[in-house]
Amino acid sequence: MLTSTAAPAPAPAVAPPSAPPAPTRAELARRMFTRSITREHGFEPLRVDGALPPALRGTLLRNGPGLFGQFGQAYAHSFEGDGLITGVRLDAAGAHGVCRLTATAGLAAERAAGEVLFGTGLPWRKRFANAARGRYKNTANTNVVSWQGRILALMEAARPTELRLTAADVETVGETDLGGVIGRALSAHPHRVAARATTYNFGVEYGRHTRLVAYALPDVGPARTLGEVTLGFAPMLHDFIATERHLVWFLSPAAVHVPRMLLGLGDFGQLFRWRPELGTEIIVMPIDAPGAVVRFTVDAFYQWHFANAFERGGEVVVDYVRYPNFDSFDALATGGGPGGLDEGRLHRAVIDVGARRLRSEAVLDLGVEFPRVHPAREGQAQGVTWMVDAALGGVVAHHADGRLARCRFGAHEVVAEPVFVPAPGATDEQAGWVLTLVYDGRADASYLAVLDAARLEAGPVARAWFDHPVPITFHGSWLPT
Ligand SMILES: [Fe+2]
Repeated sequence: MLTSTAAPAPAPAVAPPSAPPAPTRAELARRMFTRSITREHGFEPLRVDGALPPALRGTLLRNGPGLFGQFGQAYAHSFEGDGLITGVRLDAAGAHGVCRLTATAGLAAERAAGEVLFGTGLPWRKRFANAARGRYKNTANTNVVSWQGRILALMEAARPTELRLTAADVETVGETDLGGVIGRALSAHPHRVAARATTYNFGVEYGRHTRLVAYALPDVGPARTLGEVTLGFAPMLHDFIATERHLVWFLSPAAVHVPRMLLGLGDFGQLFRWRPELGTEIIVMPIDAPGAVVRFTVDAFYQWHFANAFERGGEVVVDYVRYPNFDSFDALATGGGPGGLDEGRLHRAVIDVGARRLRSEAVLDLGVEFPRVHPAREGQAQGVTWMVDAALGGVVAHHADGRLARCRFGAHEVVAEPVFVPAPGATDEQAGWVLTLVYDGRADASYLAVLDAARLEAGPVARAWFDHPVPITFHGSWLPT
């Protein structure tokens, strides 16, 4: 109970001028998860503050939801937003930026019809009709990667959407099954193992028996199916990880409510249930013997993203961001809130494959997300893990020896996944740059931040500004020139 003995202050004769309170970072993050792109455009010059490193030549492509609704109707969850590719090309001419919605078949159909045709925000009859006819929208909204010179926009519930990067723009080619190999879906999180010159990925095929299908996408030659596992339930399975010898999944009990999905019942959030009684199943697939899968179950935990994994003696070491439960799913609908990303901790799991044992410990007492490592270290022990803090307020570098480096952005700024770009020819794992897309709430505009990877605390060495805000981008890739 609050009490006060102070006399009431006299009322001022004239009310003092007061500026509206500055929005909190959580409010700014919410804008990024709810406000659609205000302007699409091909490559155009970006204003640059600071000095772009002359050796940093290439294009950063990022992907995320760019439309959160259409025709006055909001989608039910940010994950249902239409994919928007945001790119920044750095070359002798400076910085040029592109923002282009991926022209998916579903979006084209909606624009032709003048109404929302897909998604869980529709009235029940329309959802049921879509489910019965197997109609859905491949939003292509989660990641964008390059494989064999092809640009692929990925979302985990559908096939890849191929894009074409030109000097002027990003064009949509269309959905692809990579030569008849990919089934109904390919995850948004491929992992390339340098030692095998191969990118690995998987898709979850829902049905009477839900199957996890692993794919190998070699640097040269056709894509192929590597192996498959029948799952005990239908999960939301976002990411996995690869070492030089094994593919590893942590099958957390975020279960798809299959009857609801098939009948089109409930909104997006109601399609998933956290079922901790199932535990988290550890699935380890030997790359050279994909039929000899090792599976066992531990107490339930959740993860969105893996940082890296490697072999150590007879053990598999896995670095990932671990959550006690699935609460972050709801928080991600609007970009933050209680039980959101702040629960995520960088963990190291050590798997004794032969003994079917996993032990896992937090290596950093700080909420983090979107971990990345040096591309050449994927599949082997890394010296540095790059992340954002859970408030989306800065870039964090966690070193293998426990050291921590941080770049803290302003209270009016929101950062996205950091992408490490090695300096050409460098052998030092920290020699290079960290690129991230930052939303500045004061300017209501977004910019590419270029950080010197070895001097994060110094802040950006260059900023390349869009003249408009860019909604949240989840993941992306650096395409060197
Ligand atoms: Fe992701």
